[in-house]
Amino acid sequence: MPTTNAKRQILVTSALPYANGSIHLGHLLEYIQTDIWVRFQKSRGHECYYVCADDTHGTPVMLRAEQEGVTPEQLIERVSQEHQADFARFGIDFDNYYSTHSPENREHSERIYTALREAGYIATRDIEQMFDPVKGMFLADRFVKGTCPKCGTDDQYGDNCEACGATYTPAELIRPVSAISGATPEVRSSTHYFFRLPAFADFLKTWIRDGHVQSQIVNKLQEWFEAGLNEWDISRDAPYFGFEIPDAPGKYFYVWLDAPIGYLASFQNLCEREGINFDDYWKKDSEAEVYHFIGKDIVYFHALFWPAMLEGAGLRTPSGINCHGFVTVNGAKMSKSRGTFIKAETFAEHLNPEYLRYYFAAKLTPGVDDLDLNLEDFTNRVNADLVGKVVNIASRCAGFVKKQGGTLSAQCSQADRLQRFIDEGDAIAEDFEAREFNHAVRRIMALADEANTYIADAEPWVLAKQEGRDQEVLDICSAGINMFRQLMVYLAPILPQTAEAARQFLRVDTLDWESRRTLLLDHPIEKFKPLMTRVDAERIEQMMAASREDLVAEQKLKAGSQLGNEDQPGTGNEAAAEDVEISPIAPEIGFDDFSKLDLRIARITRAEYVEGADKLLRLTLDLGNETRTVFSGIRSQYSPEALEDRLTVMIANLAPRKMRFGISEGMVLAAGDDNGIYLLSPDAGAFPGMRVS
Ligand code: MSP
Ligand code: ZN
Repeated sequence: MPTTNAKRQILVTSALPYANGSIHLGHLLEYIQTDIWVRFQKSRGHECYYVCADDTHGTPVMLRAEQEGVTPEQLIERVSQEHQADFARFGIDFDNYYSTHSPENREHSERIYTALREAGYIATRDIEQMFDPVKGMFLADRFVKGTCPKCGTDDQYGDNCEACGATYTPAELIRPVSAISGATPEVRSSTHYFFRLPAFADFLKTWIRDGHVQSQIVNKLQEWFEAGLNEWDISRDAPYFGFEIPDAPGKYFYVWLDAPIGYLASFQNLCEREGINFDDYWKKDSEAEVYHFIGKDIVYFHALFWPAMLEGAGLRTPSGINCHGFVTVNGAKMSKSRGTFIKAETFAEHLNPEYLRYYFAAKLTPGVDDLDLNLEDFTNRVNADLVGKVVNIASRCAGFVKKQGGTLSAQCSQADRLQRFIDEGDAIAEDFEAREFNHAVRRIMALADEANTYIADAEPWVLAKQEGRDQEVLDICSAGINMFRQLMVYLAPILPQTAEAARQFLRVDTLDWESRRTLLLDHPIEKFKPLMTRVDAERIEQMMAASREDLVAEQKLKAGSQLGNEDQPGTGNEAAAEDVEISPIAPEIGFDDFSKLDLRIARITRAEYVEGADKLLRLTLDLGNETRTVFSGIRSQYSPEALEDRLTVMIANLAPRKMRFGISEGMVLAAGDDNGIYLLSPDAGAFPGMRVS
């Protein structure tokens, strides 16, 4: 990463959202993270472009359009408008928002494919697959349903059983049916095209070690390398909504082949519109920087397939793949029935989108851990920080300035303090650059605290009542306004709308990073209007109620149809069985048996992810007079930070069990079924070590 002040050329992307679903708060974490980073780079004066597009191809879009009685083109056009409206609400400022169903994308996809073929990286072979004779189409595994060959449970998908966890091929299902037409599928053979990923194993091993991905991701990739890379099936048979493969009539590029190429296509489209030189960014030895922001579920595509494709086609590879974790709400996976599966549109109807930008920024790290949106913490934090601290500075000072004519003092009474505010900008910039947004926010809020303390100590409201102290009052409040302006420079990448309102209030041309250095002396300001109001807890309740309504509407729409996203090729990262126990129905027991259980109240003092375990959390439990370590299969529903300091109930006399990841010294109690896991907690007043009976 260049550290000089030289002007950098930076191209940034976020993952392309599927054109068959709405934008929700989980997506927004990514677009907000990317947008903040891009706005920061622009504020610093770099040449930075942010492009994205809708990911339009594939079977789900085709089927959904059919079901709605429109063409795929009409469907993707409508969804594109919806997506763009959502992004605009949240201040996501793309330089270009395009579509993978575009002439530029067709051209680049054909060019890259042809280059790979000419270099010998494309193989063909026949594969057998389920075929729906009524629809006349091949069926991806998830479009075949039937009875599990292992446990006999009905209505299971074609690749694995949700009841017993068995994995199999769709042909092994008992009484398989097409989920699309209900017909009995038959096995047919067809020629498929494969990208020879294993040929890039050495290249990729070096590439991921050279700092292009985060360390947590390197570990994951290492596991995939050990499992061995497979050739990647990049073709699908007609009918398919996508691009036909050159010289292969009836064969289409699999959606994930042309999706990342959509980054190039969107940028190309921007280049043509604005006269930017495309090759400056994408030629092999380009010095420009290219970053892809993505979620952890699509690492395989971005850290393996994508760099290999680019390398094989003679193009430059990305400077970095910036991966983030998943959003949880109130400590659990977003859930439709709990009203925590919140769409972007629903949020924006009830709450100021800048609240969410701030909350995410305050919690975002450069790592891939999940991020919990705890709605109570969200309310407190936005109210305390933004309304209580930042906006408060301006609202306390502006009135006194206005009373004296509305022009800031010509002299600076707090030169040293303001210089420190300016200097802190360097550390804050380093935090933004490294995507340590949580640290940047902490520094900014420390400055806001200092500004508030300064004003509180100086008490301009007391002086204002005294004879002959007008100049002092004006000096204090002018210093306060200058501090406020510096804070707004630092917050502008996070809060673009609020910053724009502040810019108008301050009557300055820009809040760019460098602008903070010039103090506003003898400078007129506007009348102050409240820049932001407090979060109203009632609005949050309404938003959650509306999200439950969204669910009802959606279920009606989806009734009887299969609209999920297409299968992803086996990525080798499927959750391994991790000793998560399913309890059988228990026989009746006597009180004696029950009294053998030593149930205790425990405080979770630490909760951590377990390397290599997708379902487990490692909990450190305080039992009053001793500490235990317990592995618990609750990771899918709880993020570690949401658990820390929480009380729960544990079985304290369960014999220690050796697990793959260490010894588990007991068990915590939770209720659970397919839809969720609910950790038990005692009423207020219970304390660690207390006996439960
Ligand atoms: N279409 C693919 C990406 C193709 S990129 C060439 C896709 N689309 S998506 O709509 O499912 O997801 C878009 C982005 O949002 C992905 O990076 C994904 O990880 C992210 N998220 C989707 N749900 C999320 C959460 N609940 N939390 C955080 N990010 C999430 O994948
Ligand atoms: Zn089964």
